[in-house]
Amino acid sequence: MVGCSLEWKCMQFKDSILQLPVYKPSNLTATQPGSMVKLSSNENALGPSPRALAAMQAAIGLCHSYPDSSALALRVALANRVGLSPNRVICGNGSDELIMLLSLGFLSEGDEAVMAAGTFISYLLRTREMGGTAVQVPLRPDYTHNLPAMLAAITSRTRLLYVCNPNNPTGTSVGADEISAFLAAVPDHVLVVMDEAYVEYAIRPDFPDTVAALRAGRKNLIILRTFAKIHGLAGLRLGYGLAHPEVIEYLHRARPVFNVNTLAQVGGLAALDDEEHIARTRAHAQRSRAFFEHELGMLGLQPIASETNFIAVYVGDDGAIAEELRQQGYAVMPISGWGVSGCIRISFGTMEQNAGFMAALRYVLEQRSVLTSI
Ligand SMILES: Cc1ncc(COP(=O)(O)O)c(C=O)c1O
Repeated sequence: MVGCSLEWKCMQFKDSILQLPVYKPSNLTATQPGSMVKLSSNENALGPSPRALAAMQAAIGLCHSYPDSSALALRVALANRVGLSPNRVICGNGSDELIMLLSLGFLSEGDEAVMAAGTFISYLLRTREMGGTAVQVPLRPDYTHNLPAMLAAITSRTRLLYVCNPNNPTGTSVGADEISAFLAAVPDHVLVVMDEAYVEYAIRPDFPDTVAALRAGRKNLIILRTFAKIHGLAGLRLGYGLAHPEVIEYLHRARPVFNVNTLAQVGGLAALDDEEHIARTRAHAQRSRAFFEHELGMLGLQPIASETNFIAVYVGDDGAIAEELRQQGYAVMPISGWGVSGCIRISFGTMEQNAGFMAALRYVLEQRSVLTSI
């Protein structure tokens, strides 16, 4: 417990929140340009959608007014794109907010949420925050979700089950057949959260069309997506969820009234039409992926097959190597703490940054082999 001074003694802090780690920001933000190259947050190296920027510049004068609480225009556009009605779409202050709303809405003390050991950290944090139990199921040796084992982990207390596809931080994905067999076997009392933050980068031809399950009337499924990655709008905080109207309506009740700001709504709407930026971003990810696969291979490393805008690779002492890379001016994410032992996650930068990073990694590894051979 936090020590209670006299002034504070009437306040009750929740143990479930006190036990969470305090989020450590990277201290590398767009408003504090520095010499560090940030390859640690899976942002879009090409920057924001230019169409979104133009639309937001035109709308800046509306900022004295509250936003449309229901983000209707954006929800209609999203719904049209995926062939669902707008009452099956909710927008959030980042998809992270939607993860929080799912915890708030579905988890009580002692309830369980099943997730991979080695996936997006918010699922774990938001589960524990509600006093819930995070049931972590190890990834398979090829770093993909072990869906049969996740099914086997379901109990009568399970309320949520997270599948991150493609998965952060490994970049791996599971295909359509596996997902449909899995969905067919999930019991009705469990809400499946299919987090598709990186769906636009997926390359496998059999990537699952999970929206089809919603079109077919599936109730216990929500799909989460974001504008932070392919559209390059991470700083705006905008994500969305697709689900059955009853689930969506329930989450609307739980959300803050004005959770998505005016510029995010306007920018998001314009970004959806920015086909050129989307195509350039995809092409850049393909090029970066091929570059890293080749260059890491040349160092004798074996990167994990990625379908995202980042790549993870086993380096051994990930924390120490990430620190040494930082000293060379490159921030990457060590992911042992996320459950992926010995690996660092490298977000794709510009091609120049990618090349600079590889030179720094080569230097760091060479220094280490010199040191260990002395
Ligand atoms: C798998 C996954 N889900 C959700 C998010 C959160 O996205 P947002 O920026 O929309 O909150 C991220 C961000 O990195 C992510 O990797």
